[in-house]
Amino acid sequence: MDTAVTDHLLTTTRAVRKRLDLDRPVEPDVILECLRLAIQAPTGSNSQGWRWMVVTDPDKKVKLARLYEEGGGDYLRKNATAAGAQGRVYSSAAYLLDVLHRVPAMVIPCIEGRVDGASNGQAAGFYGSILPAVWSFQLALRSRGLGSAWTSLHLHKEKEAAELLGIPDNISQVALLPVAYTIGDDFKPAVRRPVEEITFWDSWGHTR
Ligand SMILES: Cc1cc2nc3c(=O)[nH]c(=O)nc-3n(C[C@H](O)[C@H](O)[C@H](O)COP(=O)(O)O)c2cc1C
Repeated sequence: MDTAVTDHLLTTTRAVRKRLDLDRPVEPDVILECLRLAIQAPTGSNSQGWRWMVVTDPDKKVKLARLYEEGGGDYLRKNATAAGAQGRVYSSAAYLLDVLHRVPAMVIPCIEGRVDGASNGQAAGFYGSILPAVWSFQLALRSRGLGSAWTSLHLHKEKEAAELLGIPDNISQVALLPVAYTIGDDFKPAVRRPVEEITFWDSWGHTR
């Protein structure tokens, strides 16, 4: 295993918004190739209940972008003026609001079942059986010169999105990923709190 390559991939797969190439088409085959890799991810009881909704139809993308805007546009725009790193995140997110309908493809990871009102254990097992695959998909995209950003705001309008796309009632949508080639690929590791401070050994709060 070439850890220089894998470490680079793991540390530089960012939420890409402003550097999505909106004008370059994304071939269906590259999406399938990345999804083929993604479904090597683990699932509880090997359930493999994932389903992947890829949206390229221009009219449906416009309607989904509208639902995304309704789901949290005000919230993102309001926070875009904040100072510092958080302000930069929100201003980038506000940019995505404006261009979301233009992305070449939207991928909505879905999973069979619903956990409305479930216990933490049930919810963890449920979402834990789709989220690793979503991240693998994003890593596979990055390694091929494409990018995405995990988004969740359209989930406030999940029912409307389901109606638009014909998604049955027993299916949960978990995110919406805009997918595009990226403009350049010189992404950098993000600043994070030191891992030593947030890792506890044998008792909660005991750091090394
Ligand atoms: C569960 C989840 C929900 C998110 N929802 C949104 C969203 O609705 N819109 C958006 O622009 N970014 C969204 N993000 C992306 C985060 O803002 C982003 O991951 C974070 O700012 C860190 O940036 P980085 O991924 O480049 O390190 C979401 C990320 C996660 C994991």
